[in-house]
Amino acid sequence: MKILFYKPEIADASHWLALFARELPSAEIRVWAPGDTHAADYAVLWRPPPELFAGREHLRAIFLLGAGVDALLALERRRPGTLPPGVPIVRLEDTGMADQMTEYALHAALRYQRRFDEYDLAQRACTVSGAGAPWQALEPHPRASFPIGVLGLGALGAHVASALAAFGFPVRGYSRSAKTIKGVATFAGRDTLPAFLDGLKLLVNLLPSTPETDGILNRETFSHLARGAYLVNLARGTHLVEPDLIEALDNGRLAAATLDVFAQEPLAQDHPFWRMPRVTITPHISALTLPEPAAVQIARKIEALARGEAIGGIVDPQRGY
Ligand code: NAP
Ligand code: GLV
Repeated sequence: MKILFYKPEIADASHWLALFARELPSAEIRVWAPGDTHAADYAVLWRPPPELFAGREHLRAIFLLGAGVDALLALERRRPGTLPPGVPIVRLEDTGMADQMTEYALHAALRYQRRFDEYDLAQRACTVSGAGAPWQALEPHPRASFPIGVLGLGALGAHVASALAAFGFPVRGYSRSAKTIKGVATFAGRDTLPAFLDGLKLLVNLLPSTPETDGILNRETFSHLARGAYLVNLARGTHLVEPDLIEALDNGRLAAATLDVFAQEPLAQDHPFWRMPRVTITPHISALTLPEPAAVQIARKIEALARGEAIGGIVDPQRGY
């Protein structure tokens, strides 16, 4: 069995290759480089160039080294015929990302509920202006009246929603198909979106980027939240209508936002988000791909496919996730 590996942002793939060699000892795995048209049975990759797929109709599957499939499907939309037709695309399912997302979302929820963001601002005002520090206790938002909504209840969103509920927040979750999650009030389908959003104090986004979900974080969505609510976007920058967020922060409809993902990454140095006191940014780190669990999951799926068994995580290109 021959496996192609491609992950452009790492300079040295030896750790990954060693993990696959350990998990699939009889496989030959090589890093794809331009000009490599030799035979391969599987591709394991992230953000590939179109040339990688030339003449690869015989691949048995394409495994993504991430959860989001939007960049690969966008490549096919930009250059139809790039992806070999009929070859299944398989994304990572959790592999340690759900715990990371939960840490991030819980941190943001507690920061806003206890108003640590406002204490940060007070301290920063002191260091910047040199003026005396404001020494003022702020009333925290009672946890029971701090409803949190999680957009997307897949491998990541369901875990985040459960953890926030277990921590004592009132939690709602939104998905395409109906779900039952202990302690979470669930809503399914676009018609239920206003009821899901109604009066939320914090909105966490964990939807995939698809034609249906892009732009969902917009003025209309914000208008249903409690006045002075908070936004946490952990999914994709394409979900957010940036001018609508800036307007909502300016007019007080939203109190603050934490953004891990952006329409353009890296975020341009002159982008206003860098300098907006009510916006917290992180560089797309809310859930990193962990080599060990990712390689183990992909290896087990390759073995299952070789035995003719069904596997999870196959992307539906029509649905977009
Ligand atoms: P997933 O398992 O595919 O779950 C997607 C969820 O979104 C499902 O619950 C799905 O509903 C729901 N959904 C999709 N389209 C919808 C629509 N039109 N209306 C309502 N609900 C819809 O994906 P995941 O593994 O949880 O990952 C979610 C996203 O997180 C990824 O696509 C990626 O963009 C992002 N991500 C970001 C980072 C980061 O570091 N920032 C890391 C990993 C992933 P159904 O359950 O009904 O299908
Ligand atoms: C990262 O953003 C991923 O989709 O895994």
